Amino acid sequence: MTDGSGEHPGLKAGVRIDHEPAVLDGCPAVELPDPCALVIFGASGDLTRRKLIPALYYLYQNDFLPPAFLILGTARTRMTDDAFRDALRGGTRSAHPEVFDEETWSAFSQKIFYHPLDYRDPASYRELFKRIEKCETGRRTGRNRIYYLAVPPTLYETIAEQLGESGLARQEKGYARIIIEKPFGRDLASARELNAHLHRYFQEDQIFRIDHYLGKETVQNILIFRFMNSIFEPVWNWRYIDHVQITAAETLGVENRAGYYEGAGVLRDMFQNHMMQLLALTAMEPPTYFNADRVRNEKIKIFRSLRPFDLDRLGETLVLGQYGPGEVDGEKLRGYREEPGVADDSITPTYAAACFFVDNWRWQGVPFYLRSGKRLPRRVTEIAIQFKAIPHLMLRAVTDESIAPNVLILRIQPDERIMIAFQTKKPGFKSCLRPVMMDFSYPDAAGGIALDSYERVLLDGMLGDPMLFVREEGVELTWSLLTPVLEMIENREMHFPLFSYPAGSSGPAEADSLLEHEEDHWRKL
Ligand code: BG6
Repeated sequence: MTDGSGEHPGLKAGVRIDHEPAVLDGCPAVELPDPCALVIFGASGDLTRRKLIPALYYLYQNDFLPPAFLILGTARTRMTDDAFRDALRGGTRSAHPEVFDEETWSAFSQKIFYHPLDYRDPASYRELFKRIEKCETGRRTGRNRIYYLAVPPTLYETIAEQLGESGLARQEKGYARIIIEKPFGRDLASARELNAHLHRYFQEDQIFRIDHYLGKETVQNILIFRFMNSIFEPVWNWRYIDHVQITAAETLGVENRAGYYEGAGVLRDMFQNHMMQLLALTAMEPPTYFNADRVRNEKIKIFRSLRPFDLDRLGETLVLGQYGPGEVDGEKLRGYREEPGVADDSITPTYAAACFFVDNWRWQGVPFYLRSGKRLPRRVTEIAIQFKAIPHLMLRAVTDESIAPNVLILRIQPDERIMIAFQTKKPGFKSCLRPVMMDFSYPDAAGGIALDSYERVLLDGMLGDPMLFVREEGVELTWSLLTPVLEMIENREMHFPLFSYPAGSSGPAEADSLLEHEEDHWRKL
């Protein structure tokens, strides 16, 4: 909030917020979205309480929201505006224990309203239409409307259709946008169907498909790091890079999400979206201009260049695992099949390691090893660029040490950093080598306000900037790559191997066999 001086408590001293973007170290700090109404479907659910409202509160507290703004929550549950506000307060408080304050909450919550809705009943949408108009009256939101679908994906088509039929998708006086979260279908056919259905009522530029990984600061930094420095690009290709490892390891198990996860598994849950986005950002060509279309065009080219899996030899490029019972720090952990809601004979993979190739000039012959899994020993998401070994060992007379090649690590989370491993001389008489790590910690150097992924994507949705959202074509291309694989591994008669690994371990040992060369190995988890 501004205190009248134009100064922001949350921003670096001296940063002022006006309607013109303020400038922070040469960077526009804040661009205010146009006034708008945000209608949240599924407003009585977990996502609204734990993520969306806390994110909006934080944006409000730091003056990222337009002055004319309102939130209308809608779901099946009947409740009053006040009951809804009360239900949201606790979630916001626990999401922001350090910055939550009652006064700000009380001002913010006056912008929140609630309206019960039967998702499948057209008459109910007519009532919703009236309620939206009523809320807008006197609030000058310019009839700009964003519909956020925080509901199970089975409702996406129904809600889009009802919004369309009731006239709520029309853009006569203001804009109408729809925001949806993954999964966008469960294979190529269903993704196409969903896209076609959405397009009956919304144009592609009205549809914002969230991949929350793209909202992470360090993921956004990949392109800045690659294309705003001249020293990395010349070596960012097959001549110098041996292989790339992309890891998204989680310590958590499936938690209470078996209902969704059993039908998804790690390939749909992490690979079709987050992992593919990380691969594309690592591999893409520099866009000629940093805008949504050009950046997304370059990513699309990567998706198009991905080599289809050879299904006859799938076992050589894909290893699947499922966590069994295990123990971490003396605590016994259930195996996946013992989790509530999971079938005793489930073949849903909770771990996958796969080798991808990008068939273009830059990446010819460079394997991209991707792995992701649940119940691994630590939480880490990173991209490791493994450079080639030196071509000639001048020290062979004095050392027979094997020389670890250079590696550049982009650590996405939890400790956001960029590291480069290289060789130095160990102090002393002999020419012995000492590998060292140059380490840049992102938070240590941070200035300004870091937005988390939901804050960022909500803000971009309001700004209408689709850069961090996924385009129809991208969704379909990644599904077209993975669908034949999914069909094969889910066909029980094909008996595609599913290796068990103890919860808390580094995943199935069989995954090591993916890395072709003897000297290569997965980075330690
Ligand atoms: C979600 C998946 O998209 O990403 C979850 O559905 C996964 O299964 C989560 O746990 C990981 O996100 P993050 O931000 O914690 O790495």
